[in-house]
Amino acid sequence: MDMATRMRDFFPVIGDVPEKFRPGKGLTLDRYLVSGHLKPWQGEFADVVSPVCLRGESREPETLVIGRTPLMDRKHALSALDAAVEAYGQGNGYWPRLSVEERIGHVDAFLAAMREQRREVVELLMWEIGKSYSDSCKEFDRTCDYIADTIAELKALDRRSNRFELVGGVVAQIRRLPVGVALCMGPFNYPLNETFTTLIPALIMGNTVVFKPAKYGVLLMGPLLKAFQECFPPGVINIIFGRGRDTVGPLMESGKVDMFAFIGTHRGAAALKQMHPKPHRLKAVLGLDANNPGIVMPDADLDEAVSECVTGALSFNGQRCTALKLLFVHASVSDAFVEKLAVAVDELVSGMPWDPDVKLTPLPEPGKTEYLGALVEDAVAGGARICNRNGGEVCGTYFHPAVLYPVNATMRVFREEQFGPVVPVVRYSSINEVIDHVQQSDFGQQLSIFGTDPEQVAQLVDVLANQVGRINLNTQCQRGPDTLPFNGRKDSAEGTLSVSDALRVFSIRTTVATRENDRNKGLINEIVKSRHSGFLTTDYIL
Ligand code: G3H
Repeated sequence: MDMATRMRDFFPVIGDVPEKFRPGKGLTLDRYLVSGHLKPWQGEFADVVSPVCLRGESREPETLVIGRTPLMDRKHALSALDAAVEAYGQGNGYWPRLSVEERIGHVDAFLAAMREQRREVVELLMWEIGKSYSDSCKEFDRTCDYIADTIAELKALDRRSNRFELVGGVVAQIRRLPVGVALCMGPFNYPLNETFTTLIPALIMGNTVVFKPAKYGVLLMGPLLKAFQECFPPGVINIIFGRGRDTVGPLMESGKVDMFAFIGTHRGAAALKQMHPKPHRLKAVLGLDANNPGIVMPDADLDEAVSECVTGALSFNGQRCTALKLLFVHASVSDAFVEKLAVAVDELVSGMPWDPDVKLTPLPEPGKTEYLGALVEDAVAGGARICNRNGGEVCGTYFHPAVLYPVNATMRVFREEQFGPVVPVVRYSSINEVIDHVQQSDFGQQLSIFGTDPEQVAQLVDVLANQVGRINLNTQCQRGPDTLPFNGRKDSAEGTLSVSDALRVFSIRTTVATRENDRNKGLINEIVKSRHSGFLTTDYIL
């Protein structure tokens, strides 16, 4: 089938959707979780429109409403915050005082209950954000693994804290205690995984939480609401829905949020942080914009570089904060690289999230195809070519990837984070042009270097290591494995996340110390022996 026909018939008619993935009558998320109650929402709702269109009788793609979510207001958002504040009880609430072992028990129970909702959550990921079935399964399973790894890591951390230090005439015990009330917000591209990589560490360390899901990928919290309600004590986790300005703005203005975990844009994060009246009380962990470059050196293995760049730039249609957003290729190999890249992009399977081997799917953000089209148009007007077949063609919410070459600094796509299927290739002659770009960039999350000469690669690593949080050699940029630090410099992040780092981010090391003399040692020994304290204890979690 030629591409024009393929694009015309890109979206299926309902009968073409495999039975097991067919949307039901829609899901209305009409409850929110506050103080352990799933309260009915009686106010306004927002329609959830799927990026996956269906062809109607006219054969034109028609959007499909797959559900509704509450548009909560200030008053109801604040009631969720009050519940979290009360459950924290200035650090003396039931949850922050609970032993680590007991908190782990609650999270374990949640994990078991969550696993039972796999099918529903995976299907909603597909319909809500257009993620392929295999990537949706991966997101769910990776999140479950993350929770299990977090539990194991906390046990190890707690074991290390269960001893006394003897230093400089002082006896001390050091433990990690919660920060307070956390506000957790995740992004639409990994609405489950990225959200839970802050939410779960926040909870397990004894913080209480208000959680507001991203703008898209909201319905998929529906199947998990009951698990949250049943597995955590009242007020420990409170879940609200709605527009950010109506909900999280008032929470920040209240000054009662102690910890802000946010994955999104640096502008959004800055606006929210500025609303908090006590800037030093607010601790933040932020995963923000990135414009990760790939650098292809003259001696790179081009086949390997192309394969990694295709995955790096186009997994989930380029909608990853870690995606390779700008490829710098040495002039001696750039034509050959682009030729291979275009062929590799042409081979990617496009279609619906349930299609076998599908890699390219429709985009969830309204207006996104127009935005990407404008980036392509601007680059073409500036002298770049679209090098792959049908690059930039649009059908409804689907945008076919465009490989643009040669791109230069005058073009919008050079500066703007496209966060979508546009692959700009810049031809460079001197590596100093690339180094200069990386140094001048406002972002510093990751980069990839493709090359085989040990001396050249080593020099570039050393020059660029102070610019980003991770350098990938002959490998695409990525967050995983989740045990590695995930962070960034400049406007790309605040704080570091990984399974072990997140436990540290959501806690504060707190010390109880005494001068080392017989009376004080006797006091400590008696407290430990008689188990008077949850802090001063040497109990081991096995
Ligand atoms: O959007 C950012 C995600 O953390 C990407 O995770 O790079 O492991 O796919 P990943």
